[in-house]
Amino acid sequence: MNRLGILVLAAGQGTRMRSALPKVLHPLAGRPLLAHVLEAASQLQPRRVCVVYGHGGEQVRGVFASRAIEWVEQSEQRGTGHAVGLALPALEDVDRVLILYGDVPLIESATLDRLLQEAADAPLAVLTVVLSDPTGYGRMVRTPAGRVCRIVEHRDASEAEREIEEINTGILVADRERLVGWLGRVGRGNNSQGEVYLTDVVALAVADGVEVVTAQAASPEEVAGVNDRVQLAALERHFQRRQAEHLMRGGVTLADPTRFDLRGQLRAGRDVFIDLNILIEGEVTLGDRVKVGPNCVLRDCTIGADSEILASSVIEGARVGGQARIGPFARLRPETELAEQVHIGNFVEIKKSQVGSGSKINHLSYVGDALIGEDVNVGAGTITCNYDGANKHRTVIGDRAFIGSDTQLVAPVEVGANATIGAGSTITRDAPPDQLTVSRSRQMSLSGWRRPEKPKG
Ligand code: UD1
Ligand code: MG
Repeated sequence: MNRLGILVLAAGQGTRMRSALPKVLHPLAGRPLLAHVLEAASQLQPRRVCVVYGHGGEQVRGVFASRAIEWVEQSEQRGTGHAVGLALPALEDVDRVLILYGDVPLIESATLDRLLQEAADAPLAVLTVVLSDPTGYGRMVRTPAGRVCRIVEHRDASEAEREIEEINTGILVADRERLVGWLGRVGRGNNSQGEVYLTDVVALAVADGVEVVTAQAASPEEVAGVNDRVQLAALERHFQRRQAEHLMRGGVTLADPTRFDLRGQLRAGRDVFIDLNILIEGEVTLGDRVKVGPNCVLRDCTIGADSEILASSVIEGARVGGQARIGPFARLRPETELAEQVHIGNFVEIKKSQVGSGSKINHLSYVGDALIGEDVNVGAGTITCNYDGANKHRTVIGDRAFIGSDTQLVAPVEVGANATIGAGSTITRDAPPDQLTVSRSRQMSLSGWRRPEKPKG
C-alpha cells in the first residue's frame, strides 16, 4: 500500500518567456527546469511519474526520452484541475498522487518528504508558504481554530481574504481515489477564469468531513515559479548562492560567492581557493589546495592536488596532475592528460595529448595528438602540424628533448629522447635521440646590399 505516483504539470505555454523554446526546457544551472523537478521527484522513489505537456510537447518529450515517464498531452489548457483529471488514468496503479509543477524547479525532496509524512494519515495535504506580498496567489482560508476550509484565488478573493499571507504553493498530495471523486465534482463556472481549478478540491474535501493538512515550504524560493526571464534569473542566483554556501561549508574558499557559477557537480578537496568570475560545468574534481585564478572556465576535468590554474584559462575534458601550473590564458581541450609538475603557459593550446611529468610548454604553442615524455622543454611558438587536411597524425617527443622556439613538427614525426631541435626548424622526418637537428637555411650576410629607397620628389 501507499504506492506513490508523481504528476508534474507542464502544459503552460510560457508566453511571458517570449521564446521559441518551451518554458520547462529553459536551463537553470545548465539543466532544463523540468530536469530539476524530475530529479527531486525521483528521490522520492515513486512507482510512476507522469508529465502533462502541451505547447512544444514533442521537443520536451525528446529531451527526456531516456526516462521512464508517462506522457499525457493537454492540448487545450482548461485549468490545473483539468490537467490533473486528464492524467489520473495514467496513474491507476498508485494509492496517492503528489502534484508538482514543471516551472517550479527548486522544490527540495526534503520538503516533499515532510509533506508526504503529513499526508500519511490524511487524504489531502497541501504545501503552503507565508509571503509578505501574496499578491496573485491562491490564499489558504482557515477557520478561527486554524483548520483549512478552502483555497481562494487572488482574483476571486474578497478584500479580507487578500490580507491572508499564507498561500497555496500548488503542490499537494492526495489519495488518488478520493481525488478522482473530488475532481469529478469540480465545475468550471465558479471562478472568474472559467477554468477547472485543482484548488477547488480542498473545499470539496472539507465538505466530505476530511481534515485538510498542510506543510510549510522551507523558503519562498523553493516553491517559486518561473514565468519570465527575470524570475528565471532570480532563481538561478538563489540556486547558485545555495551551491556556493554548500561548498564554502565544505572547506572551499570562494573569493566572492556571487561571482562563482556551478552548472554540474564540483568535488573539491581541502583548502581549495577559487578566485573571481569562475564557471564550472559538468563533472569537475579539484584536489587539495588547488588554486583557481580569476576568469577561468573548467568543464569536465580533474585537477591534481597543489596545482594552480592561473587567470583566464579554459580547461575542458582534461586531466591535470598534481603541482602543475596552467596559464594564464591557457586552453586545455578534451583528452589532454598532464602528469605531475607540468607547466603550461600563456596562449598555449593542448588537445588530445599526453605530457609527461616536469615538462614545460610555456609560451604561444599548439600541441595536438602528441605524446610528450618527461622533462621536455617545448619552446615558444612551437606547433604540432597534426592535420594534413584529411587526417590527424601523431607527434612523439622523447624524455628530456628540447624543442627550440618557433619549431613546426609536421606529423607523423618523432623526436628522440634528449634530442635538441634548433629554433625555427620545420621537422618533417624523425629527429634522432641525443643529437641537434636543425632544418633551416644557413644564416648569411650580404655586404654592399642596400635597402630600397623612395625616390625624393
Ligand atoms: C495556481 C494555483 C494557486 C497557487 C499558484 C501557485 C490553481 C487554480 N491555482 O495558480 O492557488 O497559488 O498556482 O503558483 O491551481 N497548468 C497546466 N494546465 C492547465 C493549467 C495550468 O499544465 O490547464 C500548469 C501550468 O503550466 C503551470 C501550473 O499548472 O505550471 C499552474 O498554472 P497557472 O495557470 O499558472 O496557475 P496560477 O494562476 O499560477
Ligand atoms: Mg502561475
